[in-house]
Amino acid sequence: MKDILDQLEQRRADARLGGGQARIDRQHQNGKLTARERLDVLLDPGSFEEYDMFVAHRAVDFGMEQQKYPGDGVVTGWGTINGRQVYVFSQDFTVLGGSLSETHAQKICKIMDMALQNGAPVIGLNDSGGARIQEGVASLAGYAEVFQRNIEASGVIPQISVIMGPCAGGAVYSPAMTDFIFMVRDSSYMFVTGPDVVKTVTNETVTSEELGGASAHTTKSSVADAAYENDVEALAEVRRLVDMLPLSNREKPPVRPSFDDADRGDYSLDTLIPDNANTPYDMKELITKIADEGDFFEMQAAYAKNILTGFIRLEGRTVGVVANQPMVLAGCLDIAASRKAARFVRFCDCFEIPLLTLVDVPGFLPGTSQEWNGVIKHGAKLLFAYGEATVPKVTVITRKAYGGAYDVMASKHIKADVNYAWPTAEIAVMGAKGAVEIIYRNELGDPDKIAARTADYEQAFANPFKAAEKGFIDEVILPHSTRRRLTRAFASLRNKKQALPWKKHDNIPL
Ligand code: HXC
Repeated sequence: MKDILDQLEQRRADARLGGGQARIDRQHQNGKLTARERLDVLLDPGSFEEYDMFVAHRAVDFGMEQQKYPGDGVVTGWGTINGRQVYVFSQDFTVLGGSLSETHAQKICKIMDMALQNGAPVIGLNDSGGARIQEGVASLAGYAEVFQRNIEASGVIPQISVIMGPCAGGAVYSPAMTDFIFMVRDSSYMFVTGPDVVKTVTNETVTSEELGGASAHTTKSSVADAAYENDVEALAEVRRLVDMLPLSNREKPPVRPSFDDADRGDYSLDTLIPDNANTPYDMKELITKIADEGDFFEMQAAYAKNILTGFIRLEGRTVGVVANQPMVLAGCLDIAASRKAARFVRFCDCFEIPLLTLVDVPGFLPGTSQEWNGVIKHGAKLLFAYGEATVPKVTVITRKAYGGAYDVMASKHIKADVNYAWPTAEIAVMGAKGAVEIIYRNELGDPDKIAARTADYEQAFANPFKAAEKGFIDEVILPHSTRRRLTRAFASLRNKKQALPWKKHDNIPL
């Protein structure tokens, strides 16, 4: 019996060595952890239950019979994050470059199926040279099996991808269909075609990092949601994110103990809005001042900075925040901001995460570039996302809510539940100056008259009371009481149920 047990331990030890010590050393020299070390950081100590440790590929072509490694380049199983179950796969670059074979794909599919059945998130740690070249179409089929599961799991269980090495070719489409992508700076990249093909086809000279590194995807393409300095930081942030999310769409987000008084007033908020309506202020200050313990987990922080998206907790419960940021483009909505916020709103709605919208928006950004690139369609995404979201929706207008952007930003008319305004709110079709220049065009030569007209318009609309008179604003609130108002509003909506008409699915403008 002892021999048998020793043999098992030996087999396990061999499997744990992946592609061997030399390749592990190389991984470390490149500043990367191994697949198993990453799981150690990601999961609670001792919680990992591995499956398929001894699975090996069945390929025989191109000398593959001599290149068999137990586990076949991916470590799979489940574990816990702060006691809550998650399924994981972690590609092992030391085994044939983490390349995806038929059996490697089957291992991933197995845990995805279990995750879907058992209602727990899937976290994929990607570090792979792509399709196992020696296997040809069997490998492509494996990818497609994973893709199909990504699609079916979307909106049922949270799916999180961490890119920790190469991710190229069609392989990028699995992460692309997950809910969040985190990248590691300087050691990860994603692209459909690499620098060599780019050079041949378009004659552009570009490095992997420039083309598809963390910086490109968090600032330019918006493919990735966040970038971190190293593996450990990225994995620690995944733990933080998972803590905010429900395990599946069958349950509510977790409630964490909160030591922050729900009634806490913050009098500095009474002076947050500058005297001059055109002076910017930092909307993040408001978010952190109302959040439990001042904790705001921002998503897509480096992209479309004119809108902020991320998670906070109120009374220990996760709330998704969408907020215009007056510091950037005066908080205008543009294509990038609309897309960013729409996707976030839809994520929250899938997973029963209530939505808080903080509004200071002067309108949609004008210009040929915006119009020709489809701001109509992209702006409609955000409108559509808010209008179809049935989670609790609470809105606070802090200053400007102009034009179509007023309607879009979770207004009463698209079924927000509770709409508050600060006394500094201005709810109008447009700013007073622009309005007067249109409706009193024939008086433009008389500056005194125009000044008087502008003052009249401001008097009428540069406040929240016209909207409050109509019931479009439920209450004008004191800025310092915002946290208390919000916690009470969300508490009142905990049992909200809203049904939409039956349909196969909607046709959101893509
Ligand atoms: C089989 C692979 C492999 C692959 C790497 N290896 N990629 N084996 N299939 N796709 C092996 C290498 O032979 C090497 O084996 C080991 O992994 C490490 O690779 P290196 O090249 O030494 O590492 P590095 O210098 O860090 O370069 C990494 C790399 C490069 C940039 C990823 O390996 C590379 O370009 N690989 C090919 C990428 C590729 O074209 N993949 C197919 C893309 S198409 P040894 O034994 O020396 O350790 C695709 C389509 C998906 O993926 C479609 C889905 C629909």
